[in-house]
Amino acid sequence: MLMAPLIAIKNLSKSFATQAGNVDVLHDINLAIEDGESIAIVGPSGSGKSTLLSIIGLLETFQAGSFQLRDHAVDELTDRQKRIIRNQHIGWIFQNFNLLPDLTAWENVALPLKFNQSINRQHYFSLALEALERVGLIDKAKSFPTQLSGGQQQRVAIARALVTKPGLLLADEPTGNLDSESSKTIVDLLTQLAQEGSAVIVVTHDDSVARRCSRRLTLNSGRLVDEN
Ligand SMILES: Nc1ncnc2c1ncn2[C@@H]1O[C@H](COP(=O)(O)OP(=O)(O)OP(=O)(O)O)[C@@H](O)[C@H]1O
Ligand SMILES: [Mg+2]
Repeated sequence: MLMAPLIAIKNLSKSFATQAGNVDVLHDINLAIEDGESIAIVGPSGSGKSTLLSIIGLLETFQAGSFQLRDHAVDELTDRQKRIIRNQHIGWIFQNFNLLPDLTAWENVALPLKFNQSINRQHYFSLALEALERVGLIDKAKSFPTQLSGGQQQRVAIARALVTKPGLLLADEPTGNLDSESSKTIVDLLTQLAQEGSAVIVVTHDDSVARRCSRRLTLNSGRLVDEN
């Protein structure tokens, strides 16, 4: 049997209710994404990039249109089902790394496994160590975030995102706080993950990051304006 596409979004619109009334943020988005694609989302500040990423990551809802995530109609999922899909199939990487300061690199990476009931407790730390090895930081396993450089912290965050072997990796400005050498390392890792079959979606203002992706989507005032 043919597998459904990873992501199929049709005529999706999103608005936020604020005290000043409804703010329309995304208009009539149509988008299909397959496994193994690396996609850059670019566009001006306020154009809706993070909002679109949050919808794809099941953190935000939408008002109109449809979003099919593999076999799931997303608007029919319960909060509990969304939580399980997020934990098992989606990895997030943020601009400011979001590591917990009181945990070591190793413990930070092991954290998503604790919420994953399909993984045996005894395997947490060996899986976390494997993920740290993957990003070249096995020697920093016992370091705390403040003892690491920005680029190293982001590699820990990537290890945390990939420790559950998710099919979908979402990154919001992952290189925004890094020098060009460290950003290259991060993009190398993300494109490698795409080559291994995960879909990787990166919101970025950095053209050198966008150029490395297999596809570029441009958002302008909440509309996808072109695709190449
Ligand atoms: N929770 C919210 N409530 C009301 N408006 C919101 C909310 N979140 C985002 N917005 C509005 O939606 C629009 C898109 O925001 P979004 O964060 O998606 O932009 P962005 O393209 O990621 O911008 P940037 O490049 O600055 O990160 C903005 O006008 C923003 O003010
Ligand atoms: Mg944003």
